[in-house]
Amino acid sequence: MEINEIRELAQGEIQKAEEASKGIQDAVALNLFKSSYLGKKSVLSSLYPKLKEIPSEQKKEFGRVLSQMREELEKILKSAQDRIEEEQLRLKMEKKKVDITLPGYFENVGSLHPYQAVVRDITDFFLGLGFTIADGPEVETDENNFERMNIPKDHPARDMQDSFSIGEGIVLRSHTSSVQARVMEESKGEMVKVICPGKVYRRDNDATHSHQFGQVEGLVISPNATFANLLEILTLLLRHLFGEKREVRFRPSYFPFTEPSIEADISCFECGGKGCSFCKNSGWIEILGAGMVHPNVLRLNGYDDKKMQGFAFGLGIDRVAMLKYGIDDIKKLYEDDVDFLSQFRKE
Ligand code: DAH
Repeated sequence: MEINEIRELAQGEIQKAEEASKGIQDAVALNLFKSSYLGKKSVLSSLYPKLKEIPSEQKKEFGRVLSQMREELEKILKSAQDRIEEEQLRLKMEKKKVDITLPGYFENVGSLHPYQAVVRDITDFFLGLGFTIADGPEVETDENNFERMNIPKDHPARDMQDSFSIGEGIVLRSHTSSVQARVMEESKGEMVKVICPGKVYRRDNDATHSHQFGQVEGLVISPNATFANLLEILTLLLRHLFGEKREVRFRPSYFPFTEPSIEADISCFECGGKGCSFCKNSGWIEILGAGMVHPNVLRLNGYDDKKMQGFAFGLGIDRVAMLKYGIDDIKKLYEDDVDFLSQFRKE
């Protein structure tokens, strides 16, 4: 066979391949193309044995022509392959087309419940002053809820807190003051500086009272805890909760577990103290009870009232939340109404 003949053959084969490659649309056709132009039964493969028939001075050129032919055919194969891949990618992208001008999805983000927001606010305030957090059960002994808080059986002060009895000597705690008894028992006559947030229960039911509500109790016992310390802490707390501009006033009051006992009021934030329906024309809003721990309470809980003294306070979480956020019905705090709660979402 003449080298020129081979050249022509190669050229023709390349042209044929080029033409054929245009029709390739998928991987199957591509494979078929590959085996017919580069496979064992291809023209290319059939040319190699012809080397024997070629005069020796032309063998080199023959080799060159064949390797060129292989190179060309491979190039054609590669470009068909690239074209198919590109086309497949384009189709895929078309299917997954994203319209970047569409508005995004709105994610409904949760938020702190106003009740919980107040608990955290109060807790943070006291942790900053070096208090620790104490806890106690909601199902409590009559002894811890009343007797060790200086409210003996048949004491008229029991009427102040219409408690739920759930068996002989067991009640749903009517105030977090019951945790005072537990903390003092554990502290065995030593110093105490705790707050106790938690749920309490009373037979109450109207717009501002629920059978279940939250309180934060505070108790400090040390050889030199003073009434002045109490007033200072409460003033700081109330300004922290209701704003630095709030006036705070203390009135004498009565609680069986403190002596002297006080109640704290803040100047009305609706009218600024002038008097309005919100503050019942008094200019003041009652906010918490407090006092110096009654010596009986110290003694009843294993403390030496000659060496130690203390102060205590209790405030209603729901009441603070209602005042702070202008909520007029306590039930709203317990209804899990998403529309109502979404008002408190911080953007
Ligand atoms: N336990 C009282 C109540 O539920 C609140 C209270 C008043 C707690 C005075 C105290 C206190 O610790 O000193 O109404």
